[in-house]
Amino acid sequence: MGNVDYDSDRVLREYLLFHYGLADDILSKGHGPKEGLGFPVRTVSELLDSNTLSSSSCRALDLGCAVGRSSFELARTCTDVVAVDYSATFIRAAQTLRDSGELSFGFPSQGERRIPSFARVPSGVDSSRVRFLTEDACRLPNDLGDFDVVHAANLLCRLPDPMALIERLPELVRPGGQLLLATPFTWLEEFTPMDKWLGGRLSGKDSAEVLKEVLSPNFRLEIEIDLPFLLREHERKFQYGISYGTRWRRLSV
Ligand SMILES: C[S@@+](CC[C@H](N)C(=O)[O-])C[C@H]1O[C@@H](n2cnc3c(N)ncnc32)[C@H](O)[C@@H]1O
Repeated sequence: MGNVDYDSDRVLREYLLFHYGLADDILSKGHGPKEGLGFPVRTVSELLDSNTLSSSSCRALDLGCAVGRSSFELARTCTDVVAVDYSATFIRAAQTLRDSGELSFGFPSQGERRIPSFARVPSGVDSSRVRFLTEDACRLPNDLGDFDVVHAANLLCRLPDPMALIERLPELVRPGGQLLLATPFTWLEEFTPMDKWLGGRLSGKDSAEVLKEVLSPNFRLEIEIDLPFLLREHERKFQYGISYGTRWRRLSV
């Protein structure tokens, strides 16, 4: 899976901190772009239109959920959340959180030194609404059904064939339902062969333009925003990105 192994212990610690860490723990020494904090919360809170959802029955699908923070955030509004990731390690951690409410882990300060911490299911969330599954987003089971909300954050440019997922989306999102996408368009050949990239080639269109082109037959674009994110590797090294966040409304058939 390219130069990021989503099943490794190192990446698990990074994602537990990214999803559940306190601002002071992530920033360390107070440095760092604060607008990048809370990304897996904001991809839901800033993109979801909860006014058009029924509070008594609402199904959501979180694709590439990693260790599950956005899935729990979706469960604030949705009564049934199916959360899917390819990494069995991430899904095991998310399941432990769901079942026990917390998970202890250590995040790196320097070299092999770690700071002990806990990931916790956010307060006010009924974690029994969430079901975690180890699945490939490009080959989802046929019996998943359809959803009022489909959320996929920073997933598209990690897939070997993003169009395989995009072609499945009209079937997964109910008419009138919402598709919440966030992607920094970090195209890398170790994840996605160049002929499968959505734009970003020397000649041809920009990735956002291509995304609009492939989604517009079945979805109407409602929101287009920048969503910065900050992932801490250790106390003196971070990944900072700006994801392109969009909400799409499934057109009626
Ligand atoms: C960059 S991370 C983003 C995780 C999370 N959505 C977030 O915003 O923090 C990409 C995630 O997609 C998962 N992933 C990669 N390929 C996948 C696939 N084919 N099917 C499902 N999940 C996949 C990885 O295991 C990882 O959890």
